Amino acid sequence: MFPADELVVDARHLSRRFGSFVAVRDVSLQVRRGEIFGVLGPNGAGKSTALRMLCGVLDPTGGQAIVVGHDVARQPERVKAKIGYMTQSFSLYADLTVAENIRFYASLYGLEGATRRRRIDVVMHQSELAPRAGQLAAELSGGWKQRLALACATIHAPPLLFLDEPTAGVDPLSRREFWERIHELAAAGTTIVVTTHYMDEAERCHRLAFIFRGEVFDSGRPGDIVERAGLAIAEFEVDDVEQATALLQSLPGVEECAHYGHVLRLAVHGGPDVLAGARDHLARAGLAVRDARQARATVEDAFVAMVRRERRA
Ligand SMILES: Nc1ncnc2c1ncn2[C@@H]1O[C@H](COP(=O)(O)OP(=O)(O)O)[C@@H](O)[C@H]1O
Ligand SMILES: [Mg+2]
Repeated sequence: MFPADELVVDARHLSRRFGSFVAVRDVSLQVRRGEIFGVLGPNGAGKSTALRMLCGVLDPTGGQAIVVGHDVARQPERVKAKIGYMTQSFSLYADLTVAENIRFYASLYGLEGATRRRRIDVVMHQSELAPRAGQLAAELSGGWKQRLALACATIHAPPLLFLDEPTAGVDPLSRREFWERIHELAAAGTTIVVTTHYMDEAERCHRLAFIFRGEVFDSGRPGDIVERAGLAIAEFEVDDVEQATALLQSLPGVEECAHYGHVLRLAVHGGPDVLAGARDHLARAGLAVRDARQARATVEDAFVAMVRRERRA
């Protein structure tokens, strides 16, 4: 449907006000076919509002977005027909069975005849929901509700799928299985835009946009975002964690000193030499360091540093 490098989502300077409050400010983002694009940000950052505009369910108050080839403000119905949208609350009918929910969504998207039967079979099979076809949606666990919601959102095989915090309230095993499924869909050509506040999930996206207070702070590949944050990380095993923290926090360039059980995790601006300096500093103060190792900076480190910098500014 789209050439490989074509933009499936092209949002420029998108904004949304509610009265005098600006929930989304000047957001620009481009998503290519087959990409898993993550929108990362804390609660209230404006993720759902941005997604709702891209889905054609909420009018922007500024800017423009072309989604699956249509302007979301001018042709929202065209956009809605070509996308799948899994909302934060999963949008299932609790008093309908699994099969009834799926058939309801099939009707909503106008599927008929052989295509309808085939698509219902496909999503039932992929989601492994067939043995639960007769169960009420209300009785499903979080993980199974999530599977059903994804089955419903993809019943019409949309080229673009919007997932709004799809793993909130879902157990860790189901979350992992869900992400495997997302990667399969993307590999088969589906473009996916997913919001999350789980940093480990952000690392599973091809590209990301960090949003905070309605604005994009940074965007790009997870690795590039982490690199731009310019942090080096070390983990120290020390006897006196409190004293070590006090000593390290006074050093220049220290972004964070956090406790993980008996391990102290230090994030500094600068390279590995800064870490060596920190270690020497502890040694000079007579603190026993049982182990010191360098660790990988994560998207979470980059995000926390960015938000702190903003707060200081
Ligand atoms: N319909 C609305 N009317 C007024 N304020 C809203 C509305 N929808 C969202 N907001 C506000 O916009 C901000 C962003 O909300 P939301 O997009 O839901 O954030 P997120 O999904 O990142 O948690 C919040 O402060 C929220 O209260
Ligand atoms: Mg939300």
